[in-house]
Amino acid sequence: MSGQEHFDALIAVDARVEPRDWMPDGYRKTLVRQISQHAHSEIIGMQPEANWITRAPSLKRKAILMAKVQDEAGHGLYLYSAAETLGTPRDQMTADLIAGKARYSSIFNYPTLTWADMGAIGWLVDGAAICNQVPLCRASYGPYGRAMVRICKEESFHQRQGFEILLELANGTPAQREMAQDAINRWYAPSLMMFGPPDEDSPNSRQSMAWNIKRFSNDELRSRFVGMIVEQVKVLGLTLPDADIRFNEETGRWEHGPLDWDEFSEVLAGRGPCNSQRLARRREAHEDGAWVREAAAAYAARQAGRSSA
Ligand code: 3HC
Repeated sequence: MSGQEHFDALIAVDARVEPRDWMPDGYRKTLVRQISQHAHSEIIGMQPEANWITRAPSLKRKAILMAKVQDEAGHGLYLYSAAETLGTPRDQMTADLIAGKARYSSIFNYPTLTWADMGAIGWLVDGAAICNQVPLCRASYGPYGRAMVRICKEESFHQRQGFEILLELANGTPAQREMAQDAINRWYAPSLMMFGPPDEDSPNSRQSMAWNIKRFSNDELRSRFVGMIVEQVKVLGLTLPDADIRFNEETGRWEHGPLDWDEFSEVLAGRGPCNSQRLARRREAHEDGAWVREAAAAYAARQAGRSSA
C-alpha cells in the first residue's frame, strides 16, 4: 500500500493521522498554517486581557484573570508543540509572527477599554473559541486533536468567569450595567467574525473538511454560537446589538445581521485598531526574553558536555 493509499484509508475511516504517517504536502502545509495561527492567537490573546490584571477590581478577580492569561500561554505552547511535530521549528513560527508574516485571530486586534471587556472577552470570545475548538478535538491530525481536548476544558472555565463578571455588573449600579452592555455592543460583531469569512469566501474550508481537519463550515459554527449567546444574554438581562437575529425553521440555522467584512479584511491586512501595538509588544517580549533563551541554551550545552565526558 502506498503512502497516499494509507493516508486516504485513514481519512476514509475517520482515523487519526500521526506524525510518523505519510501525509500529502498540502495536508502538512494547511496544518502548519492553521495550528501555528492558532498558537499565535493564544499568545497574542494574552495582551488584551493582561492589560487589566493590575486594574482588576478585587484580589479574587485579579487572581482569576492571571490564571486565565497563564492558561492562554499554555495553550500557545501546546499548539506550537503540535505544529513542531509537522517539521516546522518553533523559532521559525515565532520569527514569522514577529515579522508580521503570520496570521493570528482578528479578535485580538481590538482594544480592551473597560473592566467589562474582561467579561465580554470571556463570555463571547472564549465562548466562540469553544464552539470552534470542540469539533477540532476530532481533527484528523492526532497531536492537534489531542491538544484541543485539554484546551477546551480550560476554555469552559474562561467562558464562565467572563459570564460571571458580566452578571455581577449587570446586577450592579446603573453605570456598571451600562458598562457591561457597552462591552457586549463592541465585542459582539468581532466575535462572530472570529469564525472566518462567509462559506462562499472561505478558500480553505472545502479541502480542510475533506481532510477531517475542519468538521463544520465557518457559517455553521457561527450560527451555533449565535444560538448559544441569544439564550445566555437573557440571563444577563442585557441585549445583543443585532435586531436581525432569528431562528430559520427551514434551514435549522440561527441567522444574524450583516457583518462588516471590509473591517475584517482591514484587520487581516494589519490595519485593525491594535495590530501594530500587539506586534510591537510581542517583539519587545521576544527581545526581553533573549537572555533566558541564551541561558537555557548554555545550560543545556554544559549538561550535554558533562553527560558525554
Ligand atoms: N482571524 C485571522 N485570520 C482569519 C480569521 C480570523 N478570525 N478567519 C479566517 N482567517 C484567514 C484564514 O487564515 C485564511 O487565510 P490564510 O489562507 O492566509 O491562512 C483566510 O482568512 C480565509 O479563511 P478560511 O475560512 O478559508 O480559513 P480556515 O479554513 O483556516 O478557517 C478558522 C479559519 C476558522 C479561523 C480556522 O483556521 C480555525 O478553525 N482555526 C483554529 C481556531 C483558531 O485559530 N482560533 C483563533 C482564536 S484562538 C482563541 O480564541 C483563544 C481563546 O483562548 C480565546
